[in-house]
Amino acid sequence: MPEPAWWQTAVVYQIYPRSFQDTPTSTWLDGGKAYRENYPLALADTDGDGVGDLEGVRRRLDHVASLGVDAIWLSPFYRSPMADFGYDVSDYCDVDPLFGTLADFDRLIAEAHQRGLRVIVDWVPNHSSDQHPWFVESRSSRDSAKRDWYVWRDGSPDEPPNNWLAAFGGRAWTWDEATAQWYLHLFLPEQPDLNWANPEVEAAMQDTLRFWLDRGVDGFRVDVVHALGKDPDDLPDWKPGENPSRDLPDPPYGHAILRRLRTLVDSYPGDRMMVGEVYLMSTPRVARYYGEHHDELHLSFNFPPLYAPWDAVKWQRRIERVVEAIEPAGWPTWVLSNHDNPRHRTRYGSEARARAAAVLLLGLRGTPFLYAGEELGLEDAVVPKGREVDPGGRDGCRAPIPWDGSPTHGWVTASPWLPWPPDPGTRNAEALAADDRSILHLYRRLLAIRRTSPALRHGSFDWLPTPDGVLAWLRRADGDRRVVIVNFTTDPHDVAVDGSWSTEVTSDGAPFAGRIGPDQAVILRTRD
Ligand code: GLC
Repeated sequence: MPEPAWWQTAVVYQIYPRSFQDTPTSTWLDGGKAYRENYPLALADTDGDGVGDLEGVRRRLDHVASLGVDAIWLSPFYRSPMADFGYDVSDYCDVDPLFGTLADFDRLIAEAHQRGLRVIVDWVPNHSSDQHPWFVESRSSRDSAKRDWYVWRDGSPDEPPNNWLAAFGGRAWTWDEATAQWYLHLFLPEQPDLNWANPEVEAAMQDTLRFWLDRGVDGFRVDVVHALGKDPDDLPDWKPGENPSRDLPDPPYGHAILRRLRTLVDSYPGDRMMVGEVYLMSTPRVARYYGEHHDELHLSFNFPPLYAPWDAVKWQRRIERVVEAIEPAGWPTWVLSNHDNPRHRTRYGSEARARAAAVLLLGLRGTPFLYAGEELGLEDAVVPKGREVDPGGRDGCRAPIPWDGSPTHGWVTASPWLPWPPDPGTRNAEALAADDRSILHLYRRLLAIRRTSPALRHGSFDWLPTPDGVLAWLRRADGDRRVVIVNFTTDPHDVAVDGSWSTEVTSDGAPFAGRIGPDQAVILRTRD
C-alpha cells in the first residue's frame, strides 16, 4: 500500500464551538470590541455569555492534545444571524463576533499546528443566510444582478412550484411578497439555497475556500454536499415518505462541481482535504461522491452505521456495505455521534455500551470522527420546554462540555446557552482525568494504541468466526496484527482465541481470557 495520506490515518475530533468553552470577551484579541458592537444586550450584566468561542477552544487544546487525536473539525464560527446556529452564514470570510475575531482564529490554528493538530473547518455551500448580502441583493428585485444566485421560481402565492418539504418542517419554498416569486430552501426560510448551476456562484464560493486555504486550514467538512447537484430546472415532486434533503436525485453536474472543488483544494500544498456530509441513507449512493476516478471527495461521512442500533447483525450488515461499496471507491469514515443526532451514549443506553462502541469505532478500517464530549461518556442534556432553542430539536447533544466540578464547570457562567448534560458534578473532564479507570482514559489508551499500530491505522480487515451477538475481525499490516472483538449482548460468550494473542485493552478494564463479557469489547495483539 502506498504511504497513506494523513487524513486516512488520522482520528478527527469535532468541536461545536458554542458548547466547548466560553471565555470573558476581554481576553479576546480585540478585547471584545466587535462583540460589544454586535451584541450590546448580552453584555449588560456579565463579561462572559455562556456561549463558547474560538479563544475557549484555544485554551482547551491541552485536553484535545492529551487525548491523542490528530485533527480538529470546527463547526461553523462564521458571521451568522444564528437561525441555525451558524449553519446560516452571512459572511463566509469572517468570524462572528460571538466567537471572537479572525485574529483569534489565526492564533488558534497556529497553536493547534504547533501541537501537531490539523484544523478542518466547516464550509456551508448549499445555502447562505437570508441576511447574506448576496441574498439581500438577490431578493431586492427580479432584475437584480444576483437574482439568479438563488433558486427563484414563478407561481401563485398559494401554489408553490412543487411539493418539497424543508428538513425542519414546513415547505421548502417561501413566497417573496415584494417580488412575487418563490425561493427554495431545503432547510429554514432563513437559509435560501444557492444556485450552483450559476457559474458566478461557483466562482464566488470557490473564493471563500481560497480564503481559508490561504489562512492555513488543512481541510473542509462540506455541509450537505450532495445537495449541490440538485437540478433547479428539474425539480420533481416528492413521493410520500421521501425527505427532500436526504433523497435528492443525483445528476452528473453535481459531481462535476465536486471535481472542480477537488482540483482547487488539491492545488494547495500540504495535503489539504475535503470530507463531505453526504446525508444519504444508502451507502452505495454515498460511495459515488468519492468520484469514479477518486477525484471528488477525499472522504465522505456515511451515516447508516450511526443509525444502527446496538445489535451485532445490524452492525455487521452496515460494515459489510462499507467494505463492498465504499472501499472500492475510497477510504471509509466512521462516526457515532455529532451535533445533529442524539449521542451514542444516550442511544445505546449505558456507559458499558458507549465504552464498547469506542473500541468498535477505533478498531474499524477507516477514519474515525469523534464528537467532543464522547470521551467523557456524556449523555444528551434533558432540555426543558422553554429552554429549547434549535429548530431541528437537536439541543440535547449540543449541551456544554463540563470541564470541572465547580458550579460553573470551568465556564464563565454557571448557566450557559443550554443546560448541562447529566451529572456534571462528577462527569466532567477534571474528575475523569483523575480516575484512570474512566472512559476518558479508555479513549486515551485506544488512541495511543491506534497511533502506534500499523494494523489499526491502515491494515486489512477480515471477519473472524464468532458466536451470535458477537463480532470479531482481524486487522493486519507490516507484521502487526490486532483482533477486535465486540459483544453486543448482555450475556458472556466464549470466543476461540489461541495462546499467541495477548490482551491489549478491554472496554471495561475487566480481564479477558477467551470469554467476552456482556457489552464488553477488547483488542488483542500479536505479531506475524
Ligand atoms: C447539516 C448540519 C446541520 C445543519 C444543516 C443545514 O446537516 O450538520 O447542523 O442544520 O446541515 O446547514
